Amino acid sequence: MAFTFRGRSIGKVGVIGSGQIGPDIALHFTKSLYRLGTQVVVVDIAEEALAKGKGKIFKKIDKGVETGAFKPDGADAMKSNVTFTSDYDQLSGADLVVEAATEDLPLKRRIFRQLEQLVSPQAVMTSNSSHLEPERIFEELAHKERALCTHYFFPAERNPAIEIIPGKDTGQQITDFVMRFYEAIGKMPFKIGSRYGYAVDPIFEGLLLASIQCVDKGLGTTKQVDTVASRCLGLTVGPFTAHNLAGGNPITAHGLSEMTERINPWFRCPDRLKKMVETGQMWETPARKETVEVPPDKEKEITNELLGAYFAMCCDMLDAGIVTTSDLDLLIATALDMKPPFSYMNSTGLDKALELVESFCRKYPGMPVAKSLKERAASGKPWLVEDVVCEKKGDVAVITIRRPKALNALNSKVFEDMTPYLEDIKKDPQIKAVVVTGYGNKAFVAGADIKQMASFTKPEEGAGFARLLQISSSQLENLGKPVVAAMNGLALGGGNELAMCCTARVAPKGIKLFAGQPEVNLGLIPGMGGTQRLPRIVGFEKASEMIRTANPISSDEAFKCGLVNELVDGDVLERAIELAREIAEGKAKPKLIEKGPLSNVPDSLPDIDIGHHSKAIDAIAVESILTGAKMSLDDGLKNEARLFGHCWTTQDNRIGLQTFVEKGAKAKADFVHK
Ligand code: CAA
Repeated sequence: MAFTFRGRSIGKVGVIGSGQIGPDIALHFTKSLYRLGTQVVVVDIAEEALAKGKGKIFKKIDKGVETGAFKPDGADAMKSNVTFTSDYDQLSGADLVVEAATEDLPLKRRIFRQLEQLVSPQAVMTSNSSHLEPERIFEELAHKERALCTHYFFPAERNPAIEIIPGKDTGQQITDFVMRFYEAIGKMPFKIGSRYGYAVDPIFEGLLLASIQCVDKGLGTTKQVDTVASRCLGLTVGPFTAHNLAGGNPITAHGLSEMTERINPWFRCPDRLKKMVETGQMWETPARKETVEVPPDKEKEITNELLGAYFAMCCDMLDAGIVTTSDLDLLIATALDMKPPFSYMNSTGLDKALELVESFCRKYPGMPVAKSLKERAASGKPWLVEDVVCEKKGDVAVITIRRPKALNALNSKVFEDMTPYLEDIKKDPQIKAVVVTGYGNKAFVAGADIKQMASFTKPEEGAGFARLLQISSSQLENLGKPVVAAMNGLALGGGNELAMCCTARVAPKGIKLFAGQPEVNLGLIPGMGGTQRLPRIVGFEKASEMIRTANPISSDEAFKCGLVNELVDGDVLERAIELAREIAEGKAKPKLIEKGPLSNVPDSLPDIDIGHHSKAIDAIAVESILTGAKMSLDDGLKNEARLFGHCWTTQDNRIGLQTFVEKGAKAKADFVHK
């Protein structure tokens, strides 16, 4: 058995290097692929490194069993799925290889020369590097088209961010495959243009340089600057502490000196850092929980200096054209767990951000004031940081909802971001069809944003929100071009309702917890069309059961009851794109939803055990289903929005929403049936 994805069978993954990061990369592969039958092989020439790497990941797996993250039999299977060996020949037959050796160009080239003899010409070869451009690493390869760079972040088995850097010779299909493959195994891949250090490291290393500059100018000690940096940049630990923890001084010193030539002359290795590398010393940093006093005037100066550097570097990255605003914002927040730069500038105001950057660049003329920042500030508009990404795949536009921290939940901003894309698609004769999907491998869309709804106090606010979401999501239904939902994971509440606005729905086979209308858990009824479209698609009995009990269904059950049109093994997005094209060309004709009043409306719904749920909310749900079905879909939706708002007149609405906000999704609300 092997994992087959986008026509490629991945039976064996190789990881070269059992040093700092290789074992963690192998751990991520084995935990996400062992069930699918993909073996993982870690190769290193040093037996000692192999033993250490194996010990390290086995310890992490055992810890996972203790915390309940892994089941004992799963943990055993993960361990036996990964082999540590000094025999390079064991890489023969590998379908994907990640080289994670030392950051040394001649060494990496030597490894790839050897690797090319061992693996088939179809195998994908990647180099995990933090700086080196793919063109330089793969220069001597005969098959450059299947090679690209990746950059994992610490800790590689848990940090979801990963930079994917294709070189000028990398095949588009290989890049697409690697991007989708990583997303399918739970990573957040970001495609970055080829430049020294890619997107993240110039910022990570540049912030150490900016911090050293503060110390050199006498604004504070390393302890004080570290403390202010973590405060103003939202870092868990400051740049000095981070470098101590990761032993990162030598690589940053090398990176910064290369960046002088390769990025801009502000980047340089300062003497203070050179000395630390030569002596092997650590920075003096705050002890755990130590309170470090910083005089307010110094705090302000350090903050301005660091923010000036941070904003300047991020905007310069946009000028270089290697990453988009939205990608860099999310990438930095995820990879480095710090305040996302463009959202941060939006909150300080762009005039203020420009002032900080100009002041910084006056002091350090090697750093240019980015054109992108000057233009944005002059426009008077904030940076566009979108929760929706739109990409053209030939004649099909793929819209991805991307709010990974909220499992792609829908708020008004998602639709504000989506609407301009839909308007362009409508007018674009080259685009024949659309696919809508969710980011990541866990959720399509986990519903409307509960935290936003919990802030409402009046029925009109609830009704207005539901109507806004209904109108926005109906744009998909009324686009005039086929729209297929690639339901890559959980489709709950507004997520399932969004999918039902599409012409057809495609889902992965075998997902146990897949689709549902869980609103009654929250003291709500579905408000984005669930009480109207669900009965029209799956019939009254099934719809009433799903809405009134909140019980989710599996993807196989969703297929059986007609909620999804097709189940897919492998990449749902790929099949959804094909299906969208088939519908546009008239080769597939999915049944369309009835938009008029239904003729088979029962007088009442079947008796059902609603468990602990609110009887008051159940009555509203039943009314919405039965009255709406006798109306046109459009009027039924308006009726549903009104009744959705009516939920705010009950005590159970407050109880349900507060329970979620205060205790999380798994807590059961104590409804009072009023
Ligand atoms: N809105 C806002 N945030 C959401 C969300 C939603 N619909 N669903 C999940 N999240 C957030 C969680 O609050 C959590 O955030 P924090 O890390 O900040 O706490 C994060 O996403 C991850 O969620 P969990 O930790 O709960 O992840 P899990 O894997 O344990 O569970 C889940 C996943 C089963 C989807 C669970 O989160 C869940 O049940 N969510 C609620 C789903 C729901 O009720 N949807 C219907 C919303 S109402 C609606 O859609 C009304 C309408 O018709 C208009």
